[in-house]
Amino acid sequence: MPTAVITGASRGLGRATALALAARGWSLVVDARRPDVLAGATAGLTGVTAIPGDVTDPAHRAQLAEAASRTGRLDLLVNNASCLGPSPQPELRSYPLAELSQVYQTNVFAPLALIQLLAGSLAAAHGTIVNVSSDAAVDAYPGWGGYGSAKAALDQVTAVLAAELPALRCYAFDPGDMRTDLHQLAFPDQDISDRPEPEEAARALLRLLVQGPPSGRYRASDLAEPAVAQ
Ligand SMILES: NC(=O)c1ccc[n+]([C@@H]2O[C@H](COP(=O)([O-])OP(=O)(O)OC[C@H]3O[C@@H](n4cnc5c(N)ncnc54)[C@H](OP(=O)(O)O)[C@@H]3O)[C@@H](O)[C@H]2O)c1
Repeated sequence: MPTAVITGASRGLGRATALALAARGWSLVVDARRPDVLAGATAGLTGVTAIPGDVTDPAHRAQLAEAASRTGRLDLLVNNASCLGPSPQPELRSYPLAELSQVYQTNVFAPLALIQLLAGSLAAAHGTIVNVSSDAAVDAYPGWGGYGSAKAALDQVTAVLAAELPALRCYAFDPGDMRTDLHQLAFPDQDISDRPEPEEAARALLRLLVQGPPSGRYRASDLAEPAVAQ
């Protein structure tokens, strides 16, 4: 029975990925900060251990690792939980540094800390690390310097890990725009109902896992479903 740890699985991409893997028989260890929302998202799923907590909390991360070790093997870590920062997002010249620190704690240090805890178990299973990135990691949009630079750091962490840990597959996965709470926070005045549902990006993430290409940075749009011949 393959096993995964997925952070931020109470809604959005994390929840869609968790539901898709659970439906395929995976055992999961998942988290999110709000216990009630996490419990609702995982209700009725078998093989899912839901542990409420904040990925920036070392004690919570230790709980996730302990739960993963109880399953006996670990095939996949999806570092999905993320912090946008203030909304609307401030320009870098006036970005409050305490808030920027929180963005980096959530989007860079917590994922790396989880990798440090779980790399041994993942290597034993020739497993996979997926760090969820963003186009803001590579494109320079005004106002996106806090979140975007943190995702760029996460991309580079992923690339160096791939070089250091050849027994693992290390992916930075850019899901593209998704109709989620984080996206609405980023565009507080916009109607985002035209954005794709996170389930679409979750299907692309599953294709990445099934196809298992070399470590690297992949966009959901690169992993689109093949067109059906008419
Ligand atoms: N939405 C987009 O258009 C878009 C585009 C590019 C990249 N992304 C990336 O895709 C990933 C998923 O984003 P999303 O849009 O699905 O976000 P979302 O709908 O806002 O969901 C975020 C999830 O993470 C949890 N979470 C947030 N902070 C956490 C923390 N400190 N500790 C533990 N759990 C935490 C949330 O639950 P709680 O709030 O209860 O903790 C929730 O379950 C993120 O890495 C994001 O940067 C999103």
